[in-house]
Amino acid sequence: MKIAVLGTGLMGRPLAERLKSVGHTVIVYNRTREKADPLRRIGIAVAERPGDAIREAECVLVMLADAPAIRSVLLGDPAAQELAGRTVIQMGTIGPGESQAIRQEVIAAGGDYLEAPVLGSIAEAKAGTLLIMVGASPEQFAQWSGLFREAGRDARLIGPVGKAAALKLALNQLIAAEMTAFALSLGLVQREGVAVEAFMAVLRESALFAPAFEKKLPRLLARDYANPNFSVRLLLKDVDLFLREAARVGLNTANLEGVRPILAGALAQGLGEADYSALFNVVNPQA
Ligand SMILES: NC(=O)c1ccc[n+]([C@@H]2O[C@H](COP(=O)([O-])OP(=O)(O)OC[C@H]3O[C@@H](n4cnc5c(N)ncnc54)[C@H](OP(=O)(O)O)[C@@H]3O)[C@@H](O)[C@H]2O)c1
Repeated sequence: MKIAVLGTGLMGRPLAERLKSVGHTVIVYNRTREKADPLRRIGIAVAERPGDAIREAECVLVMLADAPAIRSVLLGDPAAQELAGRTVIQMGTIGPGESQAIRQEVIAAGGDYLEAPVLGSIAEAKAGTLLIMVGASPEQFAQWSGLFREAGRDARLIGPVGKAAALKLALNQLIAAEMTAFALSLGLVQREGVAVEAFMAVLRESALFAPAFEKKLPRLLARDYANPNFSVRLLLKDVDLFLREAARVGLNTANLEGVRPILAGALAQGLGEADYSALFNVVNPQA
C-alpha cells in the first residue's frame, strides 16, 4: 500500500520506519524538513508539502502534536484539496470533539476519516506493538485492520469517532497523575534517607505498583530527562484536554488540577521538550 505519514516527530518517525519495514511504500511530510532526513536516508520519500504526500497515498496517517497542527497540515489549503478519495487515520492525542470536527471537514473534502490514538511510545512504534484504540464504524475497522495489525499488537474498535479519543484521554491523565504521585513518594523516600531499593522492593510486591514507575526510576534518580519518549509539553496538552472534557461532562478534577501546575512548572523551567519524567524536578527540587 502507499501510505502518507504526516508528522515525523518522536512517534511519526518510528511509525514510518515500521510501515516501510513491513513492505509498504511510505511518503512522509514534516513541517521542519530536516527532522525527516533520517527517514530519507533509509529510502523513505520526503514530500515538500503535505498535499504532495497526500496525493501519492491511499491512506494518510496523521501523527501530529495537536488539533491546531492537524488543521494547519491536513486541512490547510491546498492540502485539503487532495483528500478526495483518501482515508485519513488520525493517530495523535486530541479531544473527542476536535476529532469529530476534523472528521466533518475531511468528509466535506471528499475523504474518509477514522481515529486511532495509541498507547505505547517510540520502542513500541518501531516494533509494531502499539496498543491502538480505534474510533470508526465496524466496516472501516474491518477495512483497515490489516494495517492496524502491522502497527500494533492489539487494535480494538472502541466505538464511533470520538470514543477512542475519549478513552485515550482517560489513559493519559493516568500517566500524569501516576507519575506525579510516584515522584512525590520517591522524593520523600530520598529526603527521609530511606533506601530507594527498599522502597521499590516493597512497592513492587504490592498492588500499588505500576510498570511505569520502574521504567522511569533511572531517569528520576539521575535527573536525566534527555532523549524524551514523551515530552512535558505534550503531556500538559493532554492534561488540558482532559480537564476541558471532564468539565464538560461534570467530573470533579481537583486532583488533576493539582498536577497541572507541576507540568506547567517544568515547562517554565525550560523542560518542555524534555521527557515528562522531568516533572520530578518540580516535585522534588534540587537543593
Ligand atoms: N511520544 C509518545 O510517547 C506518544 C505516545 C502516544 C501518543 N502520542 C501523541 O502522538 C502525537 C505526536 O506525538 P510525538 O511525541 O511524536 O510529538 P513530537 O515529537 O513533538 O512531534 C510533533 C509533530 O507535530 C508537528 N507539529 C507541531 N505543531 C505543528 C504545527 N503548528 N504545524 C505543523 N506541524 C506541527 C511537529 O513538526 P515539527 O517537527 O516541525 O515541530 C512534529 O511533526 C501527539 O498528539 C502525542 O500526544 C505521543
